[in-house]
Amino acid sequence: MPQITFIEHNGTKHVVEAPIGKSVMQVAVDNMVPGIVGDCGGCCSCATCHGYVAPEWAAKLPAKQEDEEMMLEGALNVRPTSRLTCQINVNPDVDGLVVELPVSQF
Ligand code: FES
Repeated sequence: MPQITFIEHNGTKHVVEAPIGKSVMQVAVDNMVPGIVGDCGGCCSCATCHGYVAPEWAAKLPAKQEDEEMMLEGALNVRPTSRLTCQINVNPDVDGLVVELPVSQF
């Protein structure tokens, strides 16, 4: 099963097992990772699942769709590597993904 590492804004790491087919947001919520709320349930309308993918991962993941880009425009502390984790699906290729969490989410 793929593993994903979430790093809180204070540096606390959470290495979790990520079942295939779930979203990265759902994996974080299921593992009670602080900083990922997922208020909208993953329908790309809240941005409470905002995270920064590690730079080496940014180009490997599927590109952002228009709705994700629009939601990120209204999010806090956005960086070039910002993603909405509800829009990233777990598959074998995401094994080892590292997601840092914004200071605005804790
Ligand atoms: Fe709401 Fe991702 S969970 S935008």
